[in-house]
Amino acid sequence: MDLLAIDNIMKKYEYRHYNIIGILQDAQAIENYLPEEVLHYISEKMELSLTRIFDIATFYKAFSLRPRGKHIIKVCCGTACHLSGAVSNIDQIKRVLNIQEGQTTEDRRYSLETVNCLGTCALAPVITVGEEYYDAVNPGQVEKILKDHDSMSDE
Ligand code: FES
Repeated sequence: MDLLAIDNIMKKYEYRHYNIIGILQDAQAIENYLPEEVLHYISEKMELSLTRIFDIATFYKAFSLRPRGKHIIKVCCGTACHLSGAVSNIDQIKRVLNIQEGQTTEDRRYSLETVNCLGTCALAPVITVGEEYYDAVNPGQVEKILKDHDSMSDE
């Protein structure tokens, strides 16, 4: 982990304790998760207790202490998406990537997560891959969506 980048983040937030969430968000953006060494480093540099930092990092679902892929696949499993086939889409993603929900591919390219609602229920079932949004997804589209995303992100 590039601790210089973490220094720059803390500097940007002026080492203010009340900015800890922003600091953790920016730190997580580097590798898509918060390595333990980073939490220790932030604790030491900001003179903020490690317990407090762990409390925050484990309270918010947006933070992950486990390594995650470069691209996070979020499958909506809210009521509308569930009724429209979200489970079949999850099964297909698991099959294509050979991972289970909450896991990351060996090459750390993708992680698979579920969410409760992405806010566009009328377009169910919906998934996001990184920053890209896909609606009315069916299992037959999953492989193409991932391939398209691969080629987009390699550019
Ligand atoms: S339930 Fe899936 S977007 Fe709302």
